[in-house]
Amino acid sequence: MNAPVKVRTETHSEDHSFAQDVRTGLSQHPKRLPPKYFYDAAGSKLFEQITLLPEYYPTRTELRILRDHGAEIAATIPPNAALIEFGAGGTTKARLLMRQSTLAAYVPVDISGDFLNEQAEALRRDFPGLAVYPVTADFTAPFALPPEVRDMPKAGFFPGSTIGNFDPHEASAFLRGARDLLGEGATLIVGVDLEKDERVLSAAYNDAAGVTARFNLNVLVRINRELGGNFDLSGFRHRAIYNRERHRIEMHLISRKAQTVRVLGRAFSFRAGETIHTESSYKYSLARFTALAQGAGWQPRARWTDADGMFSVHALEADDDA
Ligand code: AVI
Repeated sequence: MNAPVKVRTETHSEDHSFAQDVRTGLSQHPKRLPPKYFYDAAGSKLFEQITLLPEYYPTRTELRILRDHGAEIAATIPPNAALIEFGAGGTTKARLLMRQSTLAAYVPVDISGDFLNEQAEALRRDFPGLAVYPVTADFTAPFALPPEVRDMPKAGFFPGSTIGNFDPHEASAFLRGARDLLGEGATLIVGVDLEKDERVLSAAYNDAAGVTARFNLNVLVRINRELGGNFDLSGFRHRAIYNRERHRIEMHLISRKAQTVRVLGRAFSFRAGETIHTESSYKYSLARFTALAQGAGWQPRARWTDADGMFSVHALEADDDA
């Protein structure tokens, strides 16, 4: 649940940018691939499985916080507001807020229109008084809200610590964009994973059952299928490493041997041990996240953590002077 972006329906322009991003990423030193390409149908299913792994604490911990503090969190949302969810991968978490607040409208924003429409149907059945206006868009780029919610108070919702998959300058740009989109008086509720013992992080991203490894390697399967690649999957292994200086867990695909791979008619050489950096998952302290938000036009209003201080949920309010 709450994969940042659900099953994508490929369009021509997406194929084009996938090709371009792969060409550019594999030409860099160190090689890298953007994490957004994990989430095709197979990758989204694998991510769902990750959220259920015993080692992967973020999803269940955030749900616990939303359940334990649902009423207080919902109280930060103004009455009759429109709730705008960024990357509505699943509605479990939003439903927790819907049950405890008096929302007038729900606006899930996701790149997969088919998926959104299915979710919208189910929500209209379960919450007959709630207007649901799905928006098919990439929420990391500017998009417009539906005109129906223009005059409603606004609350943004960005759970799952997907903000952790952005580099800090991207996270700041996202928060600034959300501030501009939601406007004066808005609330933003955001889930943020916290710094912790490296062994806990390593276990969460190098799970014993190998699901995260399959999730990581799936991007090579996708390149083979969609871009005519010839990656031999057995020639690469998954490894997640904590980068202490940058406060982030990095996922890599490590070449087991010297090899040349062809993609899009071009050859890319790998040394033995050379890696492709496929994802960063930043972990924040409460103070560092608050400072990031303040620098991007949001003032802290309240925040909640679980008893073990693993994960946090922040309620921010739009800074009138921003
Ligand atoms: C979606 N995102 C918040 C996940 C994370 O923990 O950074 C993606 C993930 N990557 C490996 N496991 C889960």
